[in-house]
Amino acid sequence: MNIITAKNAQEASKKAFALVREGVENGTIQTLGLATGSTPLGFYSEMREAKLNVENITTVNLDEYIGLAADDPQSYHYYMENELFNSLNFKASHLPDGMASDLEAECERYEQILNENPVDLQILGLGTNGHIGFNEPGTSFATKTHVVELTKETIDANKRFFERVEDVPTHALSMGIASIMSAKKIILLAFGEAKAEAVQQMVEGAVTEECPASVLQNHPDVTIIIDEAAAGKLK
Ligand code: F6R
Repeated sequence: MNIITAKNAQEASKKAFALVREGVENGTIQTLGLATGSTPLGFYSEMREAKLNVENITTVNLDEYIGLAADDPQSYHYYMENELFNSLNFKASHLPDGMASDLEAECERYEQILNENPVDLQILGLGTNGHIGFNEPGTSFATKTHVVELTKETIDANKRFFERVEDVPTHALSMGIASIMSAKKIILLAFGEAKAEAVQQMVEGAVTEECPASVLQNHPDVTIIIDEAAAGKLK
């Protein structure tokens, strides 16, 4: 693992963007894996401002809530349109469909998309409980795209985006750990003191399904870009 500690989230986002820009411009990134949540917002802002030419780039997102339509302001479809897709003209963009009537078929469809578009670079955030995508502690490292039940911790962490905690969906579709690990290169971003424990476990803890992000220790090309607060518990 290559660990970069930046002064703050803004500087970290600029570093992540510089790596993505390089890959897009030299052609090594054709498929870019994307995340949602608060962590990549600065990175997306860098992408928009630089007006990167992405007409040859396909994007695949990690996850989507089950039961939220693409035009629901809390859905990850909506988030991506707002943050990136309305501003940059990607070749194609894929997210799991949280409204699919047959969720198992949707998982298979999404895996097929990943097989046809192998991810060159995957951007990840990190849950306070060590989740990546929506793969909660205890998820098998062998999982492909699957239906997940969100933990109370994740629902609590995400309720800030909803009017009431009851409105937070309880289930999501997520790329699995194995799907994420098949990306050629991974950049994980984590900011703030609330992530410090998970960062420490991910980097210095045992590789265990109890901390999904610890699997990244087994990946050949991972860059962790964190701010000083998130690095606070590293030895
Ligand atoms: C989002 C995702 C999640 C988040 C994680 C951190 O697509 O896959 O794993 O990256 O929950 O969320 P934030 O960035 O809001 O702290």
